[in-house]
Amino acid sequence: MTVKKITCWSIVPSCYKSEFQAPKNKAKVIAKQNSFQRLSLSDLSNPSSTTLSEDLSISLAGSNLHIFTLGELKVITQSFSSSNFLGEGGFGPVHKGFIDDKLRPGLAAQPVAVKLLDLDGTQGHREWLTEVIFLGQLRHPHLVKLIGYCCEDEHRLLVYEYMPRGSLENQLFRRYSVSLPWSTRMKIALGAAKGLAFLHEAEKPVIYRDFKASNILLDSDYTPKLSDFGLAKDGPEGDDTHVSTRVMGTQGYAAPEYIMTGHLTAMSDVYSFGVVLLELLTGRRSVEKSRPHREQNLVEWARPMLNEPRKLSRIMDPRLEGQYSEMGARKAAALAYQCLSHRPKQRPKMCDVVKTLEPLKDFDDIPIGPFVYTVPTDKSDNSIKDVKEGNAQRESKKKCGHHHQNQQLHHGHRHHQRTPPKSPNCYSENLVRQRRRSLDLNSPLHHGVKGA
Ligand SMILES: Nc1ncnc2c1ncn2[C@@H]1O[C@H](COP(=O)(O)OP(=O)(O)OP(=O)(O)O)[C@@H](O)[C@H]1O
Ligand SMILES: [Mg+2]
Repeated sequence: MTVKKITCWSIVPSCYKSEFQAPKNKAKVIAKQNSFQRLSLSDLSNPSSTTLSEDLSISLAGSNLHIFTLGELKVITQSFSSSNFLGEGGFGPVHKGFIDDKLRPGLAAQPVAVKLLDLDGTQGHREWLTEVIFLGQLRHPHLVKLIGYCCEDEHRLLVYEYMPRGSLENQLFRRYSVSLPWSTRMKIALGAAKGLAFLHEAEKPVIYRDFKASNILLDSDYTPKLSDFGLAKDGPEGDDTHVSTRVMGTQGYAAPEYIMTGHLTAMSDVYSFGVVLLELLTGRRSVEKSRPHREQNLVEWARPMLNEPRKLSRIMDPRLEGQYSEMGARKAAALAYQCLSHRPKQRPKMCDVVKTLEPLKDFDDIPIGPFVYTVPTDKSDNSIKDVKEGNAQRESKKKCGHHHQNQQLHHGHRHHQRTPPKSPNCYSENLVRQRRRSLDLNSPLHHGVKGA
Protein backbone atom coordinates (compact mmCIF):
# COMPACT_ATOMS: atom_id res chain seq x y z
CA MET A 1 0.00 0.00 0.00
CA THR A 2 1.50 3.34 -0.96
CA VAL A 3 1.01 6.54 0.95
CA LYS A 4 -1.69 8.74 -0.49
CA LYS A 5 -0.76 12.27 -1.33
CA ILE A 6 -2.85 15.01 0.14
CA THR A 7 -2.85 18.75 0.06
CA CYS A 8 -2.39 20.81 3.13
CA TRP A 9 -5.68 22.53 2.68
CA SER A 10 -7.65 19.53 1.57
CA ILE A 11 -7.13 18.20 5.07
CA VAL A 12 -8.96 21.08 6.65
CA PRO A 13 -12.47 19.83 5.94
CA SER A 14 -11.60 16.44 7.35
CA CYS A 15 -10.98 18.07 10.69
CA TYR A 16 -14.53 19.14 11.18
CA LYS A 17 -16.59 17.26 13.63
CA SER A 18 -19.25 15.98 11.28
CA GLU A 19 -16.83 14.23 8.97
CA PHE A 20 -14.18 13.22 11.40
CA GLN A 21 -15.77 11.48 14.32
CA ALA A 22 -15.02 7.81 14.40
CA PRO A 23 -17.86 5.46 15.28
CA LYS A 24 -18.30 4.82 18.98
CA ASN A 25 -16.60 1.82 20.51
CA LYS A 26 -14.33 1.53 17.54
CA ALA A 27 -10.64 1.86 18.27
CA LYS A 28 -9.57 5.07 16.60
CA VAL A 29 -5.96 4.08 16.36
CA ILE A 30 -4.94 4.06 12.74
CA ALA A 31 -4.13 0.71 11.16
CA LYS A 32 -0.52 -0.18 10.41
CA GLN A 33 0.72 -0.07 6.87
CA ASN A 34 2.94 -2.70 5.38
CA SER A 35 5.36 -0.51 3.53
CA PHE A 36 5.79 2.94 5.00
CA GLN A 37 7.31 5.81 3.15
CA ARG A 38 7.47 9.15 4.91
CA LEU A 39 5.01 11.67 3.62
CA SER A 40 6.62 15.05 3.16
CA LEU A 41 5.19 18.49 3.50
CA SER A 42 5.75 19.23 -0.15
CA ASP A 43 3.28 16.44 -0.86
CA LEU A 44 0.80 18.27 1.30
CA SER A 45 1.04 21.55 -0.51
CA ASN A 46 0.14 20.02 -3.85
CA PRO A 47 -2.98 21.97 -4.72
CA SER A 48 -4.02 19.64 -7.49
CA SER A 49 -4.67 16.77 -5.15
CA THR A 50 -8.26 15.73 -5.06
CA THR A 51 -8.23 13.52 -2.00
CA LEU A 52 -10.35 14.87 0.79
CA SER A 53 -11.83 13.65 4.02
CA GLU A 54 -9.85 11.36 6.30
CA ASP A 55 -6.70 11.91 4.26
CA LEU A 56 -4.70 12.77 7.30
CA SER A 57 -5.54 9.53 9.05
CA ILE A 58 -5.05 7.48 5.90
CA SER A 59 -1.80 9.17 5.04
CA LEU A 60 -0.44 8.71 8.51
CA ALA A 61 -1.43 5.08 8.64
CA GLY A 62 1.34 3.14 10.32
CA SER A 63 2.11 5.90 12.74
CA ASN A 64 -0.25 4.63 15.46
CA LEU A 65 -1.48 8.12 16.19
CA HIS A 66 -4.64 8.38 18.23
CA ILE A 67 -7.36 10.85 17.33
CA PHE A 68 -8.90 12.45 20.38
CA THR A 69 -12.02 14.51 20.76
CA LEU A 70 -11.88 17.87 22.49
CA GLY A 71 -14.21 16.47 25.16
CA GLU A 72 -11.77 13.66 25.91
CA LEU A 73 -8.86 16.05 26.23
CA LYS A 74 -10.88 18.25 28.59
CA VAL A 75 -11.46 15.26 30.83
CA ILE A 76 -7.78 14.26 30.64
CA THR A 77 -6.57 17.73 31.65
CA GLN A 78 -9.37 18.55 34.12
CA SER A 79 -10.68 21.20 31.73
CA PHE A 80 -7.20 22.59 31.13
CA SER A 81 -7.06 23.65 34.77
CA SER A 82 -4.34 26.05 35.86
CA SER A 83 -3.04 23.47 38.32
CA ASN A 84 -2.14 21.30 35.32
CA PHE A 85 -0.43 24.11 33.43
CA LEU A 86 3.13 23.24 32.32
CA GLY A 87 4.18 26.17 30.21
CA GLU A 88 3.44 28.15 27.09
CA GLY A 89 5.25 28.83 23.84
CA GLY A 90 4.34 30.37 20.50
CA PHE A 91 1.78 27.66 19.71
CA GLY A 92 -0.21 27.96 22.90
CA PRO A 93 -0.50 26.61 26.45
CA VAL A 94 0.64 23.13 27.48
CA HIS A 95 -1.19 21.19 30.20
CA LYS A 96 -0.42 17.95 31.94
CA GLY A 97 -3.07 15.27 31.67
CA PHE A 98 -3.58 11.66 32.54
CA ILE A 99 -4.92 8.98 30.20
CA ASP A 100 -6.46 6.01 31.95
CA ASP A 101 -6.43 2.54 30.47
CA LYS A 102 -10.15 2.65 29.67
CA LEU A 103 -9.92 5.51 27.18
CA ARG A 104 -8.71 3.51 24.18
CA PRO A 105 -7.99 -0.14 23.63
CA GLY A 106 -4.26 -0.42 23.06
CA LEU A 107 -3.44 2.88 24.73
CA ALA A 108 -1.77 2.34 28.10
CA ALA A 109 -2.57 4.47 31.12
CA GLN A 110 0.01 7.26 31.21
CA PRO A 111 0.61 10.94 31.91
CA VAL A 112 0.59 13.14 28.80
CA ALA A 113 1.25 16.75 27.83
CA VAL A 114 -1.54 18.39 25.85
CA LYS A 115 -0.66 21.41 23.70
CA LEU A 116 -3.57 23.61 22.73
CA LEU A 117 -3.42 26.02 19.79
CA ASP A 118 -3.98 29.58 20.99
CA LEU A 119 -6.67 30.75 18.57
CA ASP A 120 -5.65 34.39 19.10
CA GLY A 121 -1.98 33.61 18.49
CA THR A 122 0.01 33.81 15.29
CA GLN A 123 0.59 30.09 14.80
CA GLY A 124 -2.20 28.03 13.36
CA HIS A 125 -3.31 25.04 11.36
CA ARG A 126 -0.13 24.96 9.29
CA GLU A 127 2.22 24.61 12.26
CA TRP A 128 -0.12 22.07 13.84
CA LEU A 129 -0.17 20.07 10.64
CA THR A 130 3.62 20.26 10.23
CA GLU A 131 4.00 18.84 13.72
CA VAL A 132 1.51 16.04 13.08
CA ILE A 133 3.07 15.15 9.73
CA PHE A 134 6.66 15.09 10.97
CA LEU A 135 6.34 13.76 14.50
CA GLY A 136 3.55 11.43 13.47
CA GLN A 137 5.92 9.64 11.17
CA LEU A 138 9.31 9.96 12.84
CA ARG A 139 10.12 7.71 15.78
CA HIS A 140 13.42 7.77 17.65
CA PRO A 141 14.50 7.48 21.30
CA HIS A 142 15.59 11.14 21.15
CA LEU A 143 12.43 12.59 19.61
CA VAL A 144 9.46 13.22 21.85
CA LYS A 145 6.62 10.83 21.09
CA LEU A 146 3.45 12.28 19.64
CA ILE A 147 0.63 10.11 20.95
CA GLY A 148 -2.17 11.75 19.03
CA TYR A 149 -4.01 14.88 18.10
CA CYS A 150 -7.38 16.56 18.03
CA CYS A 151 -8.78 18.53 15.15
CA GLU A 152 -12.30 19.62 15.89
CA ASP A 153 -13.95 22.73 14.50
CA GLU A 154 -11.28 25.41 14.75
CA HIS A 155 -9.54 23.66 17.66
CA ARG A 156 -6.13 22.09 17.15
CA LEU A 157 -4.40 20.09 19.87
CA LEU A 158 -1.40 17.81 20.17
CA VAL A 159 -0.95 15.04 22.73
CA TYR A 160 2.61 14.05 23.67
CA GLU A 161 4.26 11.69 26.08
CA TYR A 162 4.82 13.57 29.33
CA MET A 163 8.42 14.54 30.02
CA PRO A 164 8.80 14.78 33.80
CA ARG A 165 11.84 17.08 33.90
CA GLY A 166 10.43 19.70 31.54
CA SER A 167 12.75 21.51 29.17
CA LEU A 168 16.52 21.91 29.24
CA GLU A 169 15.89 25.64 29.38
CA ASN A 170 14.08 25.24 32.70
CA GLN A 171 16.70 22.90 34.12
CA LEU A 172 19.83 24.73 33.01
CA PHE A 173 18.82 28.29 33.79
CA ARG A 174 16.78 27.74 36.94
CA ARG A 175 18.66 29.84 39.45
CA TYR A 176 17.86 28.64 42.91
CA SER A 177 18.34 24.91 42.72
CA VAL A 178 21.15 22.42 42.35
CA SER A 179 22.70 22.86 38.93
CA LEU A 180 22.93 20.12 36.32
CA PRO A 181 26.11 18.06 36.87
CA TRP A 182 28.71 17.80 34.13
CA SER A 183 27.92 14.17 33.25
CA THR A 184 24.21 15.02 32.84
CA ARG A 185 25.09 17.93 30.57
CA MET A 186 27.19 15.63 28.39
CA LYS A 187 24.40 13.03 28.34
CA ILE A 188 21.95 15.71 27.18
CA ALA A 189 24.35 17.00 24.50
CA LEU A 190 24.95 13.49 23.18
CA GLY A 191 21.27 12.47 23.13
CA ALA A 192 20.17 15.71 21.47
CA ALA A 193 22.96 15.29 18.89
CA LYS A 194 21.71 11.78 18.16
CA GLY A 195 18.20 13.14 17.64
CA LEU A 196 19.46 15.72 15.12
CA ALA A 197 21.74 13.18 13.42
CA PHE A 198 18.75 10.88 12.99
CA LEU A 199 16.80 13.67 11.26
CA HIS A 200 19.71 14.62 8.99
CA GLU A 201 20.58 11.05 8.06
CA ALA A 202 17.00 9.94 7.36
CA GLU A 203 16.14 8.56 3.94
CA LYS A 204 14.29 11.81 3.41
CA PRO A 205 16.40 14.21 5.49
CA VAL A 206 14.70 16.69 7.78
CA ILE A 207 16.05 20.09 8.85
CA TYR A 208 14.75 20.83 12.33
CA ARG A 209 15.23 24.62 12.22
CA ASP A 210 14.35 25.41 15.83
CA PHE A 211 17.03 23.66 17.89
CA LYS A 212 17.23 25.42 21.27
CA ALA A 213 17.21 24.67 24.98
CA SER A 214 13.44 25.09 25.36
CA ASN A 215 12.78 22.51 22.65
CA ILE A 216 14.88 19.82 24.32
CA LEU A 217 12.63 17.99 26.78
CA LEU A 218 13.99 15.76 29.53
CA ASP A 219 12.76 12.40 30.73
CA SER A 220 12.98 11.39 34.40
CA ASP A 221 16.58 10.15 33.88
CA TYR A 222 17.47 13.26 31.85
CA THR A 223 17.29 11.48 28.51
CA PRO A 224 16.79 14.38 26.09
CA LYS A 225 14.12 14.37 23.38
CA LEU A 226 13.54 16.96 20.68
CA SER A 227 10.09 18.48 20.55
CA ASP A 228 8.36 21.09 18.37
CA PHE A 229 8.56 20.28 14.70
CA GLY A 230 6.34 23.20 13.68
CA LEU A 231 9.22 24.83 11.79
CA ALA A 232 10.82 21.63 10.45
CA LYS A 233 11.51 21.37 6.72
CA ASP A 234 12.32 18.62 4.32
CA GLY A 235 15.98 18.87 3.34
CA PRO A 236 17.11 19.83 -0.19
CA GLU A 237 16.44 17.25 -2.88
CA GLY A 238 18.45 16.18 -5.90
CA ASP A 239 21.22 18.60 -6.81
CA ASP A 240 19.89 21.39 -4.61
CA THR A 241 22.31 22.55 -1.95
CA HIS A 242 19.76 24.31 0.23
CA VAL A 243 16.09 25.03 0.79
CA SER A 244 14.96 28.64 0.35
CA THR A 245 12.65 29.74 3.13
CA ARG A 246 11.38 32.70 5.04
CA VAL A 247 13.80 33.25 7.89
CA MET A 248 12.19 31.68 10.94
CA GLY A 249 13.68 30.44 14.17
CA THR A 250 14.95 31.94 17.37
CA GLN A 251 17.37 34.81 17.76
CA GLY A 252 20.63 33.72 19.31
CA TYR A 253 20.30 30.20 17.90
CA ALA A 254 19.80 30.72 14.14
CA ALA A 255 22.88 30.42 11.91
CA PRO A 256 24.21 33.76 10.57
CA GLU A 257 24.19 32.69 6.91
CA TYR A 258 20.60 31.52 7.20
CA ILE A 259 19.54 34.86 8.68
CA MET A 260 21.37 36.69 5.87
CA THR A 261 20.18 34.61 2.92
CA GLY A 262 17.20 32.48 3.97
CA HIS A 263 19.14 29.51 2.59
CA LEU A 264 18.50 26.62 4.92
CA THR A 265 20.77 23.57 5.18
CA ALA A 266 21.43 20.88 7.76
CA MET A 267 24.44 22.98 8.73
CA SER A 268 22.07 25.62 10.12
CA ASP A 269 20.98 23.02 12.68
CA VAL A 270 24.63 22.24 13.43
CA TYR A 271 25.22 25.91 14.27
CA SER A 272 22.20 25.91 16.63
CA PHE A 273 23.54 22.74 18.21
CA GLY A 274 26.83 24.60 18.82
CA VAL A 275 24.89 27.35 20.62
CA VAL A 276 23.16 24.84 22.92
CA LEU A 277 26.47 23.09 23.60
CA LEU A 278 27.89 26.47 24.56
CA GLU A 279 24.91 27.07 26.86
CA LEU A 280 25.63 23.71 28.52
CA LEU A 281 29.28 24.63 29.04
CA THR A 282 28.73 28.16 30.28
CA GLY A 283 25.30 27.98 31.94
CA ARG A 284 24.44 31.19 30.10
CA ARG A 285 21.55 31.87 27.72
CA SER A 286 22.34 32.52 24.06
CA VAL A 287 21.19 36.12 24.47
CA GLU A 288 21.10 37.92 27.81
CA LYS A 289 20.32 41.60 27.68
CA SER A 290 21.02 42.00 31.40
CA ARG A 291 24.75 41.24 30.89
CA PRO A 292 27.44 43.86 30.16
CA HIS A 293 27.26 44.81 26.50
CA ARG A 294 30.11 42.64 25.21
CA GLU A 295 28.75 39.56 27.00
CA GLN A 296 25.16 39.82 25.83
CA ASN A 297 25.58 37.61 22.79
CA LEU A 298 26.94 34.33 24.09
CA VAL A 299 28.58 33.19 20.85
CA GLU A 300 30.36 36.50 20.24
CA TRP A 301 31.63 36.59 23.80
CA ALA A 302 32.63 32.97 24.32
CA ARG A 303 33.66 31.63 20.91
CA PRO A 304 37.16 33.19 20.88
CA MET A 305 37.95 31.41 24.16
CA LEU A 306 36.67 27.98 23.13
CA ASN A 307 39.81 26.97 21.30
CA GLU A 308 42.20 28.18 23.97
CA PRO A 309 42.40 25.63 26.77
CA ARG A 310 44.03 28.10 29.15
CA LYS A 311 41.15 30.54 28.81
CA LEU A 312 38.40 27.94 28.97
CA SER A 313 37.92 28.12 32.74
CA ARG A 314 36.89 31.77 32.31
CA ILE A 315 33.75 30.80 30.49
CA MET A 316 32.83 27.52 32.19
CA ASP A 317 29.62 27.63 34.23
CA PRO A 318 30.57 28.74 37.77
CA ARG A 319 27.66 26.67 39.05
CA LEU A 320 29.61 23.55 38.08
CA GLU A 321 31.98 24.60 40.86
CA GLY A 322 34.94 23.17 38.95
CA GLN A 323 33.37 19.71 38.98
CA TYR A 324 33.97 18.79 35.38
CA SER A 325 36.43 16.79 33.36
CA GLU A 326 39.01 19.23 32.08
CA MET A 327 39.79 17.03 29.10
CA GLY A 328 36.08 16.54 28.39
CA ALA A 329 35.44 20.27 28.61
CA ARG A 330 38.30 20.99 26.20
CA LYS A 331 36.98 18.53 23.66
CA ALA A 332 33.41 19.76 24.02
CA ALA A 333 34.58 23.36 23.68
CA ALA A 334 36.61 22.57 20.56
CA LEU A 335 33.54 20.87 19.11
CA ALA A 336 31.33 23.88 19.90
CA TYR A 337 33.96 26.08 18.22
CA GLN A 338 33.69 24.05 15.02
CA CYS A 339 29.88 23.94 15.08
CA LEU A 340 29.83 27.73 15.45
CA SER A 341 32.08 28.34 12.47
CA HIS A 342 30.86 31.17 10.25
CA ARG A 343 31.56 28.96 7.25
CA PRO A 344 28.85 26.27 7.13
CA LYS A 345 31.13 23.87 5.24
CA GLN A 346 33.63 23.91 8.08
CA ARG A 347 31.03 22.73 10.57
CA PRO A 348 30.98 19.00 11.33
CA LYS A 349 28.07 16.80 10.31
CA MET A 350 25.81 15.75 13.17
CA CYS A 351 26.95 12.13 12.86
CA ASP A 352 30.53 13.34 13.49
CA VAL A 353 29.34 15.44 16.41
CA VAL A 354 27.86 12.26 17.91
CA LYS A 355 31.19 10.43 17.43
CA THR A 356 33.09 13.24 19.18
CA LEU A 357 30.67 13.43 22.09
CA GLU A 358 30.31 9.69 22.64
CA PRO A 359 33.55 9.19 24.63
CA LEU A 360 33.20 12.40 26.67
CA LYS A 361 30.72 10.94 29.12
CA ASP A 362 33.37 8.39 30.20
CA PHE A 363 36.10 10.91 31.07
CA ASP A 364 36.55 10.68 34.80
CA ASP A 365 39.19 13.31 35.51
CA ILE A 366 36.59 15.19 37.52
CA PRO A 367 37.98 16.73 40.74
CA ILE A 368 36.60 15.08 43.83
CA GLY A 369 34.37 17.68 45.37
CA PRO A 370 34.14 18.58 49.04
CA PHE A 371 31.15 17.77 51.18
CA VAL A 372 28.24 19.89 49.99
CA TYR A 373 25.44 20.52 52.41
CA THR A 374 22.18 21.37 50.73
CA VAL A 375 19.52 22.76 53.01
CA PRO A 376 16.31 20.94 52.22
CA THR A 377 13.63 23.16 50.76
CA ASP A 378 9.95 22.56 50.30
CA LYS A 379 10.44 22.72 46.55
CA SER A 380 11.22 19.06 46.15
CA ASP A 381 8.01 18.23 44.31
CA ASN A 382 8.91 18.49 40.64
CA SER A 383 5.38 18.68 39.36
CA ILE A 384 4.63 21.67 41.59
CA LYS A 385 7.84 23.33 40.45
CA ASP A 386 6.99 22.74 36.81
CA VAL A 387 3.58 24.30 37.22
CA LYS A 388 5.03 27.35 38.96
CA GLU A 389 7.62 27.74 36.25
CA GLY A 390 4.98 27.36 33.67
CA ASN A 391 3.03 30.20 35.17
CA ALA A 392 6.08 32.44 35.21
CA GLN A 393 6.82 31.40 31.65
CA ARG A 394 3.27 32.16 30.56
CA GLU A 395 3.50 35.65 32.01
CA SER A 396 6.91 36.29 30.56
CA LYS A 397 6.04 34.96 27.11
CA LYS A 398 2.93 37.09 26.99
CA LYS A 399 5.06 40.13 27.75
CA CYS A 400 7.54 39.20 25.01
CA GLY A 401 4.84 38.51 22.40
CA HIS A 402 6.85 35.36 21.79
CA HIS A 403 5.61 34.03 18.45
CA HIS A 404 7.37 32.71 15.41
CA GLN A 405 5.16 34.31 12.78
CA ASN A 406 5.07 37.84 14.04
CA GLN A 407 8.69 38.31 14.62
CA GLN A 408 10.00 35.68 12.28
CA LEU A 409 13.10 35.37 14.38
CA HIS A 410 11.76 35.41 17.84
CA HIS A 411 13.70 36.30 20.89
CA GLY A 412 14.62 33.14 22.63
CA HIS A 413 15.61 34.33 26.03
CA ARG A 414 13.14 34.94 28.75
CA HIS A 415 13.64 35.82 32.36
CA HIS A 416 11.73 33.63 34.73
CA GLN A 417 10.46 35.57 37.69
CA ARG A 418 11.36 33.73 40.81
CA THR A 419 11.66 34.77 44.42
CA PRO A 420 15.19 34.40 45.74
CA PRO A 421 15.58 32.15 48.79
CA LYS A 422 15.91 33.94 52.13
CA SER A 423 19.35 32.46 52.73
CA PRO A 424 21.85 30.71 50.47
CA ASN A 425 20.96 27.04 50.49
CA CYS A 426 24.15 25.63 49.15
CA TYR A 427 27.74 26.15 50.20
CA SER A 428 30.78 24.61 48.67
CA GLU A 429 34.50 25.17 49.06
CA ASN A 430 34.91 24.39 45.42
CA LEU A 431 32.99 27.47 44.49
CA VAL A 432 35.41 29.51 46.56
CA ARG A 433 38.31 27.82 44.81
CA GLN A 434 36.69 28.50 41.47
CA ARG A 435 36.22 32.15 42.40
CA ARG A 436 39.87 32.43 43.36
CA ARG A 437 40.89 30.79 40.11
CA SER A 438 38.91 33.29 38.12
CA LEU A 439 40.09 36.24 40.17
CA ASP A 440 43.71 35.14 39.73
CA LEU A 441 43.22 35.10 36.03
CA ASN A 442 41.48 38.45 36.20
CA SER A 443 38.84 36.89 33.98
CA PRO A 444 35.32 37.92 33.04
CA LEU A 445 34.05 34.95 35.06
CA HIS A 446 34.61 37.30 37.96
CA HIS A 447 31.38 39.06 37.10
CA GLY A 448 29.58 35.78 36.57
CA VAL A 449 30.52 34.46 39.99
CA LYS A 450 29.50 37.65 41.70
CA GLY A 451 26.07 37.21 40.35
CA ALA A 452 25.91 33.47 40.92
N1 LIG B 1 5.83 16.71 26.40
C1 LIG B 1 5.99 17.56 27.39
N2 LIG B 1 6.13 17.13 28.66
C2 LIG B 1 6.31 17.98 29.69
N3 LIG B 1 6.35 19.32 29.55
C3 LIG B 1 6.20 19.83 28.31
C4 LIG B 1 6.01 18.98 27.18
N4 LIG B 1 5.91 19.77 26.08
C5 LIG B 1 6.04 21.03 26.51
N5 LIG B 1 6.21 21.08 27.84
C6 LIG B 1 6.36 22.28 28.68
O1 LIG B 1 5.68 23.33 28.09
C7 LIG B 1 6.56 24.44 27.87
C8 LIG B 1 6.14 25.15 26.61
O2 LIG B 1 6.49 24.36 25.50
P1 LIG B 1 6.42 24.90 24.03
O3 LIG B 1 7.16 23.95 23.20
O4 LIG B 1 5.00 25.14 23.68
O5 LIG B 1 7.11 26.31 24.08
P2 LIG B 1 8.64 26.74 24.09
O6 LIG B 1 9.50 25.63 23.56
O7 LIG B 1 8.99 27.24 25.44
O8 LIG B 1 8.64 27.94 23.07
P3 LIG B 1 8.57 27.85 21.49
O9 LIG B 1 7.19 28.24 21.10
O10 LIG B 1 9.57 28.81 21.05
O11 LIG B 1 8.89 26.44 21.09
C9 LIG B 1 7.96 23.79 27.81
O12 LIG B 1 8.95 24.67 28.21
C10 LIG B 1 7.83 22.66 28.80
O13 LIG B 1 8.11 23.11 30.10
MG1 LIG C 1 9.05 24.36 22.25
